[in-house]
This record gives sequence, structure tokens and C-alpha cells, in this order.
Amino acid sequence: EIEMARAGAIIIALMSPFNNKNLIERYKYKSLTTFAMEFVPRITRAQSMDSLSSQSNLLGYKAVLMASDTMTKAVPIMMTAAGTIHPATALVLGAGVAGLQAIATAKRLGANVVAFDVRKAAKEQVASLGAKFIEVEDDGQDLETKGGYAKEVSKEYAMKQQLLLAENIKKADIVITTALIPGKPAPVLITKEMVDSMKVGAVIVDLAAINGGNCEYTKKDEIITKNGVTIIGDCNIISKLAKDASKLYAKNLYHFVKHLIGKDKKMIEVTDEIIQEMMLTHKGKITNNRVK
Ligand code: NAI
Repeated sequence: EIEMARAGAIIIALMSPFNNKNLIERYKYKSLTTFAMEFVPRITRAQSMDSLSSQSNLLGYKAVLMASDTMTKAVPIMMTAAGTIHPATALVLGAGVAGLQAIATAKRLGANVVAFDVRKAAKEQVASLGAKFIEVEDDGQDLETKGGYAKEVSKEYAMKQQLLLAENIKKADIVITTALIPGKPAPVLITKEMVDSMKVGAVIVDLAAINGGNCEYTKKDEIITKNGVTIIGDCNIISKLAKDASKLYAKNLYHFVKHLIGKDKKMIEVTDEIIQEMMLTHKGKITNNRVK
């Protein structure tokens, strides 16, 4: 299809730019103008174009439903004549877009929710949803980049984080992991030993499976059971919500195309921040600094 495209044609898509070096070289040689939807900058005026957010939000919601459907315990508190069912505990690792929706969904179902993130800004957002934020005692350094993403943590921080999670994971019935670092493999937050210490019947939904997974046991596109704990590594959960996922993604594309064409129906300038950050190749050159 690249060979069939005419020089100067525009392609706008989810490009997985860090995994497709060869394809990007071919776009360059074909003189295609390409835009990666993953690179929509995290600024207010680009929010309507942000497909990572629109899809992550749905993912966080579905992950909790899948976990509650898989586990052998009910989620809300139930006081019945036959006895009391205690609420399930959900642990959410990574409180970004997917994580925050997972927290909100688990709360709505009646779970006790605990969450963790390396970014300090996440603390207030987690609290505003009525969940408990657990944090690593550190030197106060913020692990958030200017673009709103997480930085990689130091070895010392990772060790403290593991101790904190080891303590909390034993109490969890549902674990939703969403931790990602752009352009890097997903950080391993849950070791095999931690899984082995979990309750029988608990469920982990690893939304980072496509990037290697946040759990050491995760197998991409598989559902496995270890010592009674189910680990879901499904990488295409979003297709279970195809109707809404497609609707939102189409809107994201629409808003980008509208921006690209501009009000006067001429192509917008390459100097525009949104265009500049999303553009991978143009006029036979790789233009994107992150890709370079
Ligand atoms: P993401 O999908 O790249 O990562 C998910 C979460 O994992 C992030 O919250 C990240 O801090 C966390 N994480 C990474 N390494 C971790 C570790 N070792 N342990 C625990 N957590 C770890 O990020 P996402 O969800 O796409 O967005 C992150 C933030 O970006 C949002 O919370 C929001 O504040 C901001 N944002 C801003 C937008 C805007 O237009 N202004 C649009 C969308 C997001």
C-alpha cells in the first residue's frame, strides 16, 4: 500500500512510531507526509484529537468489568440474612487516563479502591475519586515529564515501590495495571513472588501487556492462572467496546483533519505545535525529533 500511494499523500494513523523504524524509512523514501496519532501533544487545544486518552478511558472501564466477571467474589458490600459479604478491594497501578477510569468504575461497583502512581499530580486526582493513594517515601523529586508522562524510576525508588506494593497486593481481589513509559518497555511492578502471595480467586488485568506487561507472569494475549490468581494479558480489550471505541477514534481523527486543513481551507503551517509534534515524515525527510 505504501508503494501504491502517490508522493506527497498524507497518512494519519496510529503508527506505533517507536516500533516501526522500517516503515518510517519507507514513508520518507516515498515522500509521504505522515502523522502519528500517538503523538498528539497533551495540551488543552489538542484534547479532542487525543486518541490515547479516548481509548484508555474505555480500557480502564472494561478492565474492571472483566476482572469482576472473572473473579469468584462479589464486588459490593452485601448485608444479607445469610451473612455479610465484604466489599472487594481493587488495587490500581498507574493512575493516568485508564487508571482513573478503572478507579471510578471499581468505586461505582462498590469496591474499596487503592491506587499508586509515580507522578505526584495523581495523588489529588485519585483522592477526588474517593480512593486511597499509596505513596513511596522519596526525595521529593517529581517523576512527571513536561508532557504529562512518567519518567523511569531509579533502582532505589523501584525497590521501595516493590516493598509498598508487596504489602498491598496481598489484600487485593482485583488488580488493574496501566503503568507505561512512552518509548520504553512497561515497568515490572508485580513480581512472581507478589502474585504467589495473593488471595486465591484474585484477578490481575494487565493493560500494559502489549508493552511487555507490568506483571512478571503476564503472557501477551493469554489468560493464565498461577496459584489460583488469574492474569489477563489480552491486548485487544478495546475491541470488546468496538462501537464506542470507533466512535471516539473517528472523532479524534475528524478533529485533527479539521485542524490540519485550517479555517481558510489551506493546509496549516508546519510550525504549528500540534502538527510539528505529530508529523513523522514530510517532503522526503524524517521531521520528528522523538523518532530521530
Ligand atoms: P500512560 O498511559 O503513559 O501511563 C499510565 C500511567 O502509568 C501514568 O499515570 C504514569 O504516571 C504511570 N506510571 C508510569 N510508570 C509507573 C510506575 N513505575 N509505577 C506506577 N505508575 C507508573 O499515561 P496516560 O494515562 O496517557 O496519561 C498520564 C497523564 O497525562 C494523565 O493523568 C493526565 O494528567 C495527562 N493528560 C493530559 C492531557 C491533556 O490534554 N492535557 C490528555 C491526557 C492525559
